[in-house]
Amino acid sequence: MSEPLLRARGITKHYGAVRALAGVDFEIRPGELVGLVGDNGAGKSTFVKSLAGAVQPTSGTFEIDGKPVRLGTPQQARDAGIETVYQDLGLCDNLTVAENIYLGREPTRGWGPWRRVDRRRMGTEVREVLSTLSINMPEPGAQVTALSGGQRQAVALSRCKLWRRRLVLLDEPTAALGVQESARVVDTIRELSAAGAAIVLISHDIPMVMELTDRIVVLRKGTKAADVATEDVGEHDVVASITGAAARKEIA
Ligand SMILES: Nc1ncnc2c1ncn2[C@@H]1O[C@H](COP(=O)(O)OP(=O)(O)O)[C@@H](O)[C@H]1O
Ligand SMILES: [Mg+2]
Repeated sequence: MSEPLLRARGITKHYGAVRALAGVDFEIRPGELVGLVGDNGAGKSTFVKSLAGAVQPTSGTFEIDGKPVRLGTPQQARDAGIETVYQDLGLCDNLTVAENIYLGREPTRGWGPWRRVDRRRMGTEVREVLSTLSINMPEPGAQVTALSGGQRQAVALSRCKLWRRRLVLLDEPTAALGVQESARVVDTIRELSAAGAAIVLISHDIPMVMELTDRIVVLRKGTKAADVATEDVGEHDVVASITGAAARKEIA
């Protein structure tokens, strides 16, 4: 088995008197697709935000490729190859599709005072990466305000693909979408995974999680209630673990 890409140890997060995470250990290997499930308030978003550098844990450590790292800011996390796609955030409404995919990483041409953003190259690259995804997309120059929910998710996912992110964190990527759009986003997640990214997928859609993932981690009240290979469990076991009904017969 390969070494973990990322390892989190003893991640704890207090918000004042609220203990959102209580010592969570977690690891993910290169190319692995892990489902992170749990009831509302279980700590899923807080955990993923701590990997994304958006939340600072009260205690705990992270390692990437076996080496300690600080994920102190979203930029530090991005530098470590981690990209996050949230349910609704994540796109800048005042920018175009292409600008959203580049976000500060635009290719330039020329030198010194003649340095300019290379829009032609951006257009070509964006069209290329969008054409490999399952979703119908408008032109790279379109404003993202005109996009549907599914198209917005596709833009966010293409960002992960173009930048060859090693670890992609998806927090409820289909929660705001209709059935058809969800199906397309699912295809896109598969493509991202096939391209070699490790993916953490948070979702309430247990059938989807069962279908897509290699492994399922259940959070309950800020602690890890289960960590199992998806093929070893049924939907019923996962739901029981989420609600705590499996407390006497743990699935992990
Ligand atoms: N910024 C915050 N300030 C205070 N409490 C928070 C904050 N974010 C989350 N919490 C609390 O932490 C707990 C875990 O929340 P969250 O990580 O959003 O859970 P989940 O994503 O599993 O629904 C909840 O009790 C929630 O109210
Ligand atoms: Mg959440």
